Amino acid sequence: MCGIVGCVSTKKNIIPILVDGLNTLEYRGYDSAGLSYIKDGNLIINKVKGRVKDLENHISKNINANIGIAHTRWATHGKVNEINAHPHNVGNITIVHNGIIENFHKLKEKLKNKGYTFKSESDTEIAAGLLDYYYNKYQNIDKTIQKFIKKVDGSYAICLMINNDEKTIYVIKKDSPLIIGTSKHTNYIASDVPAILKYTKKYYILEDYEYGKITSDDIKIYDKEGKLIQKEIKEYQGSDLISDKGIYDHYMLKEIMEQNITIRKTINPYINNIEDLLKLPDLTKYERIDIIACGTAMHAGLVAKYLLEEYTNTKSEVFLASEYRYQNNFLNNKVLSIFISQSGETADTLAALKKVQQAKCDTLGIVNVKESSIARTLDQVLYTEAGPEIAVASTKAYTSQVALLSVLALSHAYRTKTIKEEKLIHILEEFRSITSILNPLLEDTKTYENIAKKIYEKSDVFYIGRGLDYALAMEGSLKLKEISYIHSEAYAAGELKHGTISLITKNTPVFSSATNKKINAKTISNLKEVISRGAECYLITDEDITDNSFQTIKIKKVSMFLKPLLTIIPYQLIAYYTAKLKNCDIDKPRNLAKSVTVE
Ligand code: G6P
Repeated sequence: MCGIVGCVSTKKNIIPILVDGLNTLEYRGYDSAGLSYIKDGNLIINKVKGRVKDLENHISKNINANIGIAHTRWATHGKVNEINAHPHNVGNITIVHNGIIENFHKLKEKLKNKGYTFKSESDTEIAAGLLDYYYNKYQNIDKTIQKFIKKVDGSYAICLMINNDEKTIYVIKKDSPLIIGTSKHTNYIASDVPAILKYTKKYYILEDYEYGKITSDDIKIYDKEGKLIQKEIKEYQGSDLISDKGIYDHYMLKEIMEQNITIRKTINPYINNIEDLLKLPDLTKYERIDIIACGTAMHAGLVAKYLLEEYTNTKSEVFLASEYRYQNNFLNNKVLSIFISQSGETADTLAALKKVQQAKCDTLGIVNVKESSIARTLDQVLYTEAGPEIAVASTKAYTSQVALLSVLALSHAYRTKTIKEEKLIHILEEFRSITSILNPLLEDTKTYENIAKKIYEKSDVFYIGRGLDYALAMEGSLKLKEISYIHSEAYAAGELKHGTISLITKNTPVFSSATNKKINAKTISNLKEVISRGAECYLITDEDITDNSFQTIKIKKVSMFLKPLLTIIPYQLIAYYTAKLKNCDIDKPRNLAKSVTVE
């Protein structure tokens, strides 16, 4: 979603720094880009609908500017076009903004009555107008920002320049991430640390309702009353810059292929012996485990729910964060809420987390990005070690989440003695061998490419399953629709007859997995029902099934705690090769964002 970069320097030309930053933030998902700088007293703004490379074509290579702000926009208010793209300038004020100004209609009317006119449909232009209005009224930037914070509802990370000030960038933050990077004679602003890592690893994190004044040699941060705050400087500890695609055509393929390593790395501290499981948080005092997340992370939660209920007798519920934040949550001190997030910035997940904390109930998180907003807010956090995930469609982050949650469920089973020790030891052995278990599945690309050839021209694809296999069907279906734009739906296999079956016609592809011997026969019967109606079926299974009426993809027989990690690989790769045959923009699918920082 929207990305922000800003830079002020006495030594460097900031234009390439801004462009580098925008290129790094591309992975968040966006549809237009813009940049503005002040040079010799003149404010220059360049904006384009499209990609950062299109913006670069609009910028003269010979400018040597020392102050500027830049933005990638993921449209919320107003169409995708150049006018709605950021930066927005009103009077003396130029801003880039990430978030949503919820009361912008009211503010717009107020400003119109004061004589302001607006060019775009964007809420951001209204924010710029309001800042300009207060700036003209008070002739004081502190008062302007403090008043702005009081008057504006919604979320914002804002980078602001004043027309006649070639030395200072101002920042304001509420509910959208913003960091300030620092180095000698040059300071940086960004919505995400990777955007500035090429230049500095040192940064400050801005918290809600704080604002800052940044010059090339000074950073001052204030609370909403204008009191100066002393901030701790952070040093980025993760792997260096976002890696390149290496030998792969797309980040998504690279990230799928890396899963044999990222899963192992994530669970490594907990699987060497049975006592290692006790390093994981103790869940025994809770009667219910709520799991809250969005998108793929929510699908990882469904796996955890199944394992906790089936193997530890612990009630667990999974919620979409966007629903959870507005519903009755029946919380008490016997409930643990687990939040799952790759980016650690998803607005709905963060809001749901704050809600649970207000109710004074315990929170635990599974997060990939260290020091992200969600990670910093949680009571307790377990990090996945997936590394930077660039492709918008999540793959390696998902399997790291699933693996960590599975090991957490296993540790709970150990503490509650709901699984025999002998079996636990065997499952830990399997987890330690996950790399070699996954390798043959990852290498079998020909099978997936051939299936992709059969489905890439179809308009609808269905995924069915029962129990854990239903959770996997949901993730398989999401992967396909996200990147190939083929309509797909996941259905509980037993529910088919109550709806989806009416959509099955000759050669409609139906995918399924059957990895639970207690219910496999039932799923296969459901598959037969769609085959009788002309469907073209594919089954992922660990059983020896010979049946010419559908194509089987065989996975190794492993414990239930590992099965999802295997089942998802064919689903991910079939989606990938299908999108590739359709020439889709696989790493940056249309309309989608990697980090969804607005509601
Ligand atoms: C977006 C991404 C998905 C992701 C979801 C939740 O929709 O495109 O890949 O699963 O957000 O994101 P999170 O960062 O909280 O896991």
